[in-house]
Amino acid sequence: MIIAVDGPAASGKGTLATGLAQHYGLPHLDTGLLYRAVGRAVGDYEDLPEFEARAIAAAEALDAGHLTDIAELTSARSGVLASKVAVIGPVRQALFEFQRSFATQAGGAVLDGRDIGTKICPDADVKLFIQADSKARMERRARQLEARGVVVDRYALFHQIEERDARDMLNPHGGFYKAADAHLLETTHLGIEAALRAAIAIVEKVMALK
Ligand code: DC
Repeated sequence: MIIAVDGPAASGKGTLATGLAQHYGLPHLDTGLLYRAVGRAVGDYEDLPEFEARAIAAAEALDAGHLTDIAELTSARSGVLASKVAVIGPVRQALFEFQRSFATQAGGAVLDGRDIGTKICPDADVKLFIQADSKARMERRARQLEARGVVVDRYALFHQIEERDARDMLNPHGGFYKAADAHLLETTHLGIEAALRAAIAIVEKVMALK
């Protein structure tokens, strides 16, 4: 069984994908980490003309060993760099195979990202699209950061989330929209437990109809 979980920044898709993977005993890949690892690898060249060439080389050289430093990869800076390398077509192509082979391993998998249901796994058994309004997403991300001891400027964070949404939506190579056969899960007013129960209910319903 392949489960695709897509949605915008800080929508809770990662937490839901982790919960679904645990519930069904499936391996899980947070595909945002791939873009974050590439972004981090080329960070210092952000404003230079060789940024693109370096990003492509980093994407081609990426392996699972680059995905272990989660604290560094999940920083706000890595997120911004990730959304910049994510608009480079050959970077997406290089990361496609990595994601595809993870998705098609024996027994199935859960993948979360932006284009799993549209581009990486259009054949997924179950597709979820997670939505939450930007204020709720800002508040969740703020609490996550505060739990790590980071002092948060909520106004700046809100602005950053809206900016990232805009860049993601304008990505000419992205498939950053809800697939026609994806199930919408609106989580603005749901806590983690309730959202996970709702996600499991959708998976059960879809699989029962197969
Ligand atoms: O989900 P996230 O915040 O970790 O993603 C970081 C960036 O990576 C996001 O701005 C867009 C990009 N991304 C992508 O282009 N395709 C994916 N499947 C996942 C993430």
